[in-house]
Amino acid sequence: MVKIAILGYGTVGSGIFEVIKRNQLIVNKKAADEIDIKYVLDLREFPGDPVEAVLVHDFEVIINDPEVSVICETMGGLKPAYDFTKRALEKGKSVCTSNKELVATYGAQLIRIAKENNCNYLFEASVGGGIPIIRPLNYCLTPEKIEGITGILNGTTNYILTKMASQGADFNDVLKEAQEKGYAEKDPTADIEGHDPCRKIAILSSLMYGKNVDYKDIQTEGITKITSVDFEYAQKLDYSIKLLATSCEHEGEYYALVAPFMIKKDCPLAFVNDVFNAVYVKGNMLDDTMYYGRGAGKLPTASAVVSDVIDCARHLGKSVMCFWDEEKVTLSDNEKLPRRFFIRFSGSVSESLAKIEAEFGKVQVTTLDKFPGEFAVITGVITEKIYKTAVSKMDNLISMLRVDE
Ligand code: HSE
Repeated sequence: MVKIAILGYGTVGSGIFEVIKRNQLIVNKKAADEIDIKYVLDLREFPGDPVEAVLVHDFEVIINDPEVSVICETMGGLKPAYDFTKRALEKGKSVCTSNKELVATYGAQLIRIAKENNCNYLFEASVGGGIPIIRPLNYCLTPEKIEGITGILNGTTNYILTKMASQGADFNDVLKEAQEKGYAEKDPTADIEGHDPCRKIAILSSLMYGKNVDYKDIQTEGITKITSVDFEYAQKLDYSIKLLATSCEHEGEYYALVAPFMIKKDCPLAFVNDVFNAVYVKGNMLDDTMYYGRGAGKLPTASAVVSDVIDCARHLGKSVMCFWDEEKVTLSDNEKLPRRFFIRFSGSVSESLAKIEAEFGKVQVTTLDKFPGEFAVITGVITEKIYKTAVSKMDNLISMLRVDE
């Protein structure tokens, strides 16, 4: 029998309890052992809930119980999750987590500590919720040199952008509606400013390179400046607007960026709508693969944590493969990357086009009858450095979106 403990009986923690109870026979069969929840740690009481029988309020009970071999950490945040996780791993207890903040901040160190103590630190649920993406990177894509990963890694912003596209609504109105429906947090900053997908792409990039990508080094832009007019242009040009978290190797240098992009409507990521997430991975032999599903939610996220519990149960006393060293990856400035840019200018095409083409090179021009006081262009492939130099010479810029081919 494998005795486990769950730290935190919130959305994901209670989901783990439910997944294991409802699918107990399947879970036991796949683990080739019986998985038994010995403790659930939470400061609160849950009268009448089946968790009462195993509820404890003191982490010391769990850490000092030699029978507990696997711990699910679903507390979120760094404190006290980091301290609890480190102590558990140092005692040889494996830890499975959905805590992307902790994984993005201390992942490399915690993986090393797990290896030193013949146990595991697994984090399938930390990126893309229920979507299997960590295990494919660690187990399936092993012969590949991964050349790039691009993901829609945040359900809240994808929901907002999907509704803006379909309803022609403005950002603030859709955000309010998303908050009323419970899809967006009361404080949505981490989602709408891109901090959440930034941590997730840092985790994926670290696995891609086998070295540590610090999320603080990743240039991050949110979706708050996207307007309904951007979507009018996107519609006319056959593009979607998506918040992409992207990481790639280009001419021997490493790049990462979180920002809203214009993507062609026939691109697979353009079909990812509402709260769904997807991760697009390009390998040098396998070429393109895509992983799609629910990036959040109680049972999908809990299922991913339980898949880690099963992995730990199958490998008790043994560290499973995970290449993520503490050595830091130096990210290059995104200014060096070539791409196309969608740019809106105020005024008339006839007055500005000659100057625009003198600065940016040949462009594709689009106008909208509804908005006679402005127009948009899509540049040819130029570096962001050239874009910035050119745009600094213009006095009628409204906004810019990068274009992903
Ligand atoms: N706030 C996140 C999202 C939850 O909207 O995707 C999952 O990490």
